[in-house]
Amino acid sequence: MAETLAIHGGTPVRQDPFEGPSHHYGDADVEAAAEVIRSGFTTDKREAFERAFAARHELRHGVAVNSGTSAIHTCVAALNPDPGDEIIVTPWTSGGSIIGLLLQNCIPIFADIDDTYTLDPVDVESKITSRTRAIIAVHLFGNPCPMDALRDIADRHDLVLIEDCAQAHDSEFQGGRVGTFGDIAGYSFGIKHLAAGGGGAVLTSNQSLWERAVLFRDAALPRPDGPLEGRPYANYFLAPNYKINEMTAAVLLSQLDRLDGYIERKIEAAYTIIGGVSDLGVLTPQRVRARDRHTYWVLSFTLDTERLNCSAFDFAEAVSAEGIPFMGPYIDSGREGPLYRNPFLTKPDLYGSGRFPLDYERDNPVDYEQVRCPNGEELMGRGINLLMRPSLSSQDTEDVVTALRKVADYYLAGSP
Ligand SMILES: Cc1ncc(COP(=O)(O)O)c(C=O)c1O
Repeated sequence: MAETLAIHGGTPVRQDPFEGPSHHYGDADVEAAAEVIRSGFTTDKREAFERAFAARHELRHGVAVNSGTSAIHTCVAALNPDPGDEIIVTPWTSGGSIIGLLLQNCIPIFADIDDTYTLDPVDVESKITSRTRAIIAVHLFGNPCPMDALRDIADRHDLVLIEDCAQAHDSEFQGGRVGTFGDIAGYSFGIKHLAAGGGGAVLTSNQSLWERAVLFRDAALPRPDGPLEGRPYANYFLAPNYKINEMTAAVLLSQLDRLDGYIERKIEAAYTIIGGVSDLGVLTPQRVRARDRHTYWVLSFTLDTERLNCSAFDFAEAVSAEGIPFMGPYIDSGREGPLYRNPFLTKPDLYGSGRFPLDYERDNPVDYEQVRCPNGEELMGRGINLLMRPSLSSQDTEDVVTALRKVADYYLAGSP
């Protein structure tokens, strides 16, 4: 007889709150921020962080910005695309992966994923048209995209390859760190492996992309040491102010020292949880290629909903009632599903009451109601996910396994 689930009035696996701080900040971070304030914001932490973060990736340039969304926007703006240009991207990602390209008047074209939850190169290639300018490779949850195949496609079709590394700091594709395969890469420092309560960065070794990116994040002004140094003070093209705050940069610099430890702990915890439920045969973890390094910003499973006879939403809700905050399907409740089902694209609600840029110089406007990515819909509709924290203790991971097993046993026993 399966145990009574907490959602049905049983005793939850976890009595104490599970959610500790999503990240670890300490005295060194407080001191780093205080130093900036004491100086009257005259420090040069931004440049120091840009150098350190670029050096960590063995790339030439870093451009620190105020969020991951603005980082990806800056990557796109660095190409200086024309209105209506198409950019191929996964629909299973944060809106932050595509908001910038829409603000730059480009059009997201969605390609399907496989069981790594990252872009399927065959589907990417089938979506290329004469208007395609770029591909955005999102390393979802920390699992790397197939960067060899995507690089090859980008080269053959003369496209720019952007990496969205927001969730995947220090992940590795076949031994190489993500962010180093594309032409330009964007990072977020919200609740991520490297975090400072917000902020973002762009990395590239491409000189012309860097020049446009570093100008774009600073209103295209002619700053000392910048690409327009020495020119009269003026705004040289349309660009926002996306500069990172000195205090955020200072905390990021301080956090860099501890980043390796945070990531290693998440990976270790993920392996323990995966190992603890593998014999059940109904929870399949996100597939990781041999020789790739998934850094487990989020731990994700696809459920065998047929055998369990329940939805991913019900399963996640039952595990959450046990005191372990699983989301599902996909992020949060995932009711909206892929980005092409989100109201800002389906209504669409972009610029006023028109359809721009979806109808720009085209006979038929792009209609997201018609878009389907069948593999991803099938897979991600059965997904449950746990946001990983550096502070996960062995008691925490044990409780995660116990809760998953309890709920799986209940449904496998055929209880309604
Ligand atoms: C893949 C991805 N890209 C972009 C972003 C946007 O980052 P931010 O929230 O810092 O703007 C996020 C945020 O979580 C993300 O997960």
